[in-house]
Formats: sequence, C-alpha cells, structure tokens
Amino acid sequence: MTAIRLADRMANLGTESAFEVLARARAIEDAGGKVIHLEIGEPDFPTAPHIVEAAVEALHAGATHYVPAPGIPPLRQAVAAFLERTGRMRVSPDRVVITPGAKPIMFFTILALAGEGDEVLYPDPGFPMYASITSLAGAVPVPVPLRQRNGFRIDTDELERLITDRTRLLIINSPHNPCGSALTRQDCEEIAAIAMRHDLIVLTDEVYWAIQYGQSSASPGGPPPGTPRHASVLDVEGMADRTILLDGWSKTFAMTGWRLGFGVFPPALVEPVTRLAINSVSCTSAFSQYAAIAALEGPWDPVEAMVAEFRRRRDIVVAGLNDLPGVSCLEPQGAFYAFPDITRTGQASSDLQARLLADAGVAALAGSAFGPYGEGFLRFSYANSVENIRLALEAVRAQLG
Ligand SMILES: Cc1ncc(COP(=O)(O)O)c(C=O)c1O
Repeated sequence: MTAIRLADRMANLGTESAFEVLARARAIEDAGGKVIHLEIGEPDFPTAPHIVEAAVEALHAGATHYVPAPGIPPLRQAVAAFLERTGRMRVSPDRVVITPGAKPIMFFTILALAGEGDEVLYPDPGFPMYASITSLAGAVPVPVPLRQRNGFRIDTDELERLITDRTRLLIINSPHNPCGSALTRQDCEEIAAIAMRHDLIVLTDEVYWAIQYGQSSASPGGPPPGTPRHASVLDVEGMADRTILLDGWSKTFAMTGWRLGFGVFPPALVEPVTRLAINSVSCTSAFSQYAAIAALEGPWDPVEAMVAEFRRRRDIVVAGLNDLPGVSCLEPQGAFYAFPDITRTGQASSDLQARLLADAGVAALAGSAFGPYGEGFLRFSYANSVENIRLALEAVRAQLG
C-alpha cells in the first residue's frame, strides 16, 4: 500500500466536533441504540414550501449551469434590498458575494487578509473554524475570552489589551454559538471604537441574526416601535468600510443543506474574494440562488413561527438544566444553544459528553470543543422537539444523580 504523506499544513487544520459526535451517535443508532440529538447546529424545521417551489421552478427553467462567481445579479440585489428593509445596512449589490453556505465567507476573508505571522482575534469559546482556518493560513489565532461572569460577552478592555501591531482581523459573532449570548449596542459601539483606533478589519458573523429572543420580531416590516433591535458594529458610522458581514440562509430559513451564504465586503475586498471563489467553488448552485430570492422576498411567518418555538424550548431547557444537580445555565439571548456550567459535577466536559452519549443516549457537545475557555461547560442544541428535550433532561438527571 502506498504511504500517503499529508502536507504539513494539515496538522494545523482542526475540525468541527458536532460532525464527529453526530457520526458516533449514528454508529450507536446503527447498532440498534437510541440517541437524542442535541449536538446538531441546524433548525429541525423544514424549508418553507414557497422556497422549495422556487428551486423546482428554477430547475425546470434550466438553472442548471454555471452562474457568475459572486452570485446571480437578482440575488445580490435581493440581499441588498433585504438588508436595507430590515434596517441592518444600506449597501450596493456589487458589495454582496454569494457563497455555498456562509463558511466560505470565513475562509475567503481569513485567506485574503491574514498572512504568515499576522494575528487574528476571535471569540473563545467560539465557532471552531475561526481558529482552525487562521492556523491553516499560517496566521496566529488569538482567543478573546468570553466569560460567564460577563454574560459570555466580550470584555472590551481585555480585547484592547490583546491587540498588537500584528493584529489584522477581529472576528465577532452575535448571537453567539455556542454561548447564546448577544452583544449590546454599547458593546458594539466600544468594539467599533477599538477597531477604528487600531485600524482593524472586523468580520461580524451574524448567521443567527434572526433568532433572537429579546426582540419581539426581526420582521422585514421592522420590529414594533420601542423593541430593542439586533445590535451590530455595522450600526456605527464608518464601520461599513472596515467590516465584513457574514450571514446566510442556513439558520434563518432552515436551509442548511442548500448551502447558501453571503458576505458583504468593503469594495476593495470584493475582487480578491471573488478570485478565491473562482479558484475554489466557481460559483454557488444556480437553482439554490433562485430559492434564496424566494426566501428573502417571501412571507416572514415561517421564520417568526420557528423563532417563537425556539423561545418556548429555550425556556424549558434553561429551567430543566438549572434544576439538575451541579448544573447552572444562563438564559441565552439568541441562536438555539444552551451552554450550562457543569463545573460543580466535578467532571471534565469531554468526559461528561462521552458519558452522556454512551450511557444516557444524549448527544451534546463538550464546551472545550469550542476552545479552552469552553472547559467546564456543555453545549445543548435545542433544535429538537420539546418531548425529546424533556426525555434528554431526564436521562441526564439519571446520569448525574
Ligand atoms: C457561528 C456560525 N457561523 C457560521 C456558520 C456556517 O453556516 P453555513 O455554512 O451553514 O451557512 C455556522 C454554522 O453552524 C455557525 O454556527
């Protein structure tokens, strides 16, 4: 057998443990065991029928070939119009780039900006790809701790102390995976001031933008007067010139499998990022892009119904977790993850993750999978039915009891 020697850079590339735990859970199921899936980061709702219909129509109409690398013009326009309608930003469509899922926006941004020895600040705990792609690019990932005592929000004094003359990029994520925290308007203003003071580029990951519980609605008609809006660094004057917005259809419209994401870039980054797309994926699936237009322009009720259901489950999960021996859990403000503190159980988070899967049939993720500052926590996704959530809580109680 030929020995395959991997390139050295592969040693720098981590993985996303949700996919690994899912594979282990499936193996248990294949062997006849039962598993309640609370590890998965995708809405357990079907894509709305009008969106599916738009894709079917596009397929019949022949949208089965290559399309422009940065996206089809009507979708780039629809994204710009959607962002304006929802009060998030005014932007011209030529700054919008469509990608197969939002992950390539992360990849392309980091590859385009962070070279050998450059430093990239990212939240820890945080989405594992931020550090992993940064290392692959030869740059240095620098964790910005998110601490429970600060509601899992960035401590802006600490952030500023971590900046050096090699810092190129600051990655932020709100609402946050895995903590469920959301930045406040004041946080955003402080982060923006720091970015401007130190001439940093900011990548703001807002894939969970629509899934927030503090506001009554993220409706494109605009939330009712007086309700707090989603807070973003993009709301701060001057930030659009130094900020990349990352978003997509996976979470808002329950479309993870369609692979549809977008980025909004400062003008000078559009061409390099398009070049990265041409060199890697060529373009995003043509018929998916027509479905994406239907999602943005269609009825908002399916999104509202999904968010309302997530809010109901959040309340059940948080109350249930706080009732377990040795466990305490802050109330998530957005996304669909609970991130309880398990330090009083006396178990390491990876041990408890393994035990819950093997002995209780509950798939959850160790906080340490999201970075060293996630140790002492577990992530439970509540993208599962209330019935299954209750069964899982009982099974966890039996283990901890
Ligand atoms: C914080 C965060 N950003 C980005 C993504 C990427 O989503 P997708 O590539 O499906 O659009 C995810 C998916 O889990 C996520 O949790």
